[in-house]
Amino acid sequence: MTLLDEAKKVAAEFEYTAEDVNRGVKAFISQMAVPNGTEKGLYLAVDLGGTNFRVCSIQLHGNTTFSLTQSKVAIPRELMVAKTSKELFSFLALQIENFLRTHHNDHFESHLQRHKSGSQIKSEEIFQLGFTFSFPVNQIGINRGTLARWTKGFDIDDAVGKDVCQLLQSEIDALHLPVKVAALVNDTVGTLMARSYTSPGKTGTLLGAIFGTGTNGAYVEKLSKVTKLADMKESTYDKSTGNMIINTEWGSFDNSLSVLPSTPHDTALDADSVNPGIQMFEKRVSGMFLGEILRRAMLSLVSSPTAQLFQDADSSTNDENSTTTIAPDSALYKQWGVDTSFLSLVQADTSPGLGVIRQTLARDLGVDAASAEDAAAVKVLVEAIGRRSARLSAVAIAAIVISTGNSEGTAKRGEGDEDDVVDIGVDGSLVEYYPGFEGYMREALREVEGLGDRGEKRIRIGIAKDGSGVGAALIALVAAKAEGGGG
Ligand code: BGC
Repeated sequence: MTLLDEAKKVAAEFEYTAEDVNRGVKAFISQMAVPNGTEKGLYLAVDLGGTNFRVCSIQLHGNTTFSLTQSKVAIPRELMVAKTSKELFSFLALQIENFLRTHHNDHFESHLQRHKSGSQIKSEEIFQLGFTFSFPVNQIGINRGTLARWTKGFDIDDAVGKDVCQLLQSEIDALHLPVKVAALVNDTVGTLMARSYTSPGKTGTLLGAIFGTGTNGAYVEKLSKVTKLADMKESTYDKSTGNMIINTEWGSFDNSLSVLPSTPHDTALDADSVNPGIQMFEKRVSGMFLGEILRRAMLSLVSSPTAQLFQDADSSTNDENSTTTIAPDSALYKQWGVDTSFLSLVQADTSPGLGVIRQTLARDLGVDAASAEDAAAVKVLVEAIGRRSARLSAVAIAAIVISTGNSEGTAKRGEGDEDDVVDIGVDGSLVEYYPGFEGYMREALREVEGLGDRGEKRIRIGIAKDGSGVGAALIALVAAKAEGGGG
């Protein structure tokens, strides 16, 4: 063999065919963390939010659509403040078992049989599960993260500092479920992912935000601006997109109250909470707290010598010709007694006599025969509390739009262009059910220097319904692919 022949033989080993190139491109795209709608497969997701625990299985069809099967249970109050984390996490694992028995029983039973007979379990038989855990964690890996602190009324001491994925996996294993906790996801990150999967047009989504029981946002930041990474080894994170998703935990914005507004009711609510001094932004914005702020504001008017809410003894001003009474066991006198859904209802009543408000006062709060003036007063309070919440929400959104350089349209893009858009995915009971929440938010966005009318118009806000579940499934998919399994 001549030298040249030898060289050609070696050279042939470097051959990288067109087919290889295309396979490479596909694999590369599928490993980039932000989904584009082509992902496929069946994944499990669980979502521990503030109020409910959801279990779902999600079939991604690969064409930006998905089908979702889900079950939801209210988290029992006593588990939120349990003595040990085991009490909470074993309850969660049990819900996953119930879900599998109801919706994927064949798969579940055959797995149990194999487990009993001691035969080898193949990795593709294991459901990859995305765990949406909507509390602050120090995330140290795709499926590892230690709880930094509880929020939203949860208070289980022994969980703080522990890896919440491991806590869940142990209880799943104790029940021999064919489930691997593959990814740990904050609900805002899930919402961002889900919106990226479903959002119209070619614009990427900038921000995923929750305005529900709690509030928080996660956004896409340039890697170069993430200074925290300087301390991390490059190999521990993926640099390929040049971006990183930042979970801001904005619920704790301005805990020192240097710019946040405060009323005596905010101050009292905080002092009586399980976590005084933290989540101060959240305590003025999110659903868990608005009812309690309103309750305290109403009580202050009940006991005010001049205002006298619900004190109408004058039958001439009271349509029912009766005296207004507050039941001694009224929810008005109980901490957390007023639900945020009450505010939504009040805000929605635009009838001349405010009949719905008066009926609801009687039904939910034990306030009988409230006058039209009482109802109007309650409505004034509700509008003020709801509007402040929405305007504060606008502060967080505007800050992120501006700081990421998205407040101005780029020169290439003209006003009204399909891609002259800043896309935001939102979820949560406030944005979904509180009438006019987005309107109030937009009003404030227009007032922000550096946004104005034009900037506000460019912001497209879309509900990412069930976003956190779908997003968690998408991330479980990415994690499984990175490991070379699942999908
Ligand atoms: C939690 C966040 C979460 C938000 C919305 C806050 O209380 O700290 O992690 O994203 O609630 O659920």
